[in-house]
Amino acid sequence: MRLPFLAGNWKMNKTLAEALEFAEAFKELYQGTDVRAAICAPFVHLAPLKKAFEGTEIKVGAQNVHFEQKGAFTGEISVAMLEEIGVDYCIVGHSERREYFGETDETVNKKLMTLSETSIIPILCVGEVLSQREEGREKEVVEKQVKAALTGVPSGDVAQMVIAYEPVWAIGTGRTASAQQAEEMCRHIRDVVSELYEEETACGLTIQYGGSMKPDNVTELMNMENIDGGLVGGASLSADDFMRMIDF
Ligand code: PGA
Repeated sequence: MRLPFLAGNWKMNKTLAEALEFAEAFKELYQGTDVRAAICAPFVHLAPLKKAFEGTEIKVGAQNVHFEQKGAFTGEISVAMLEEIGVDYCIVGHSERREYFGETDETVNKKLMTLSETSIIPILCVGEVLSQREEGREKEVVEKQVKAALTGVPSGDVAQMVIAYEPVWAIGTGRTASAQQAEEMCRHIRDVVSELYEEETACGLTIQYGGSMKPDNVTELMNMENIDGGLVGGASLSADDFMRMIDF
């Protein structure tokens, strides 16, 4: 039984004061629901947000991590640093990191392997660009990303983790994939995982859709059999909107 899971991806938005203002409002709203919720915030907000959400079920996630344990990697953050402050989730391989910061299937895999030794749950992002969909290659592209990312990752970790299907053409564009398109790909991802591991692992895996998910399209997407949640960018910046989505 997979509990629905909505994660906000704030990207490079909100000052600390704004983050804490959100936390106060969201804590009041998020009570007594079976839908899991997390906020993936900029690194500098993670510790204050963990503190602000203390005593609630609201989880906190990072948006990236480095694959090495420590060393001369100026500007990077290690898993130990995230673990120390109790971070629950970590986004890995978001398309913006792949596009602007040179993230590859190989670095994504290394990051998953590093996280595998911790209690931090990865939210692995995969998704095709528009031209790949127009050429009818979207399933092949996503399958390749999933297989490359999971190489060597133990099945116990995969059963716990989250994969977010985010078609790049739908991110921040206001153009959502149709519920059918999203469901078809999420099912495909589950099939690929059940091919690589056991059926049980694939059944336990949480699969999110991401890309212009909003209060007015969340219900249709969440009603799909293989969509267990969402990775929500823009609409997670407002506590009211994000809560409306959690109440889908
Ligand atoms: P969006 O972003 O909801 O603003 O499209 C989603 C994401 O990039 O995770």
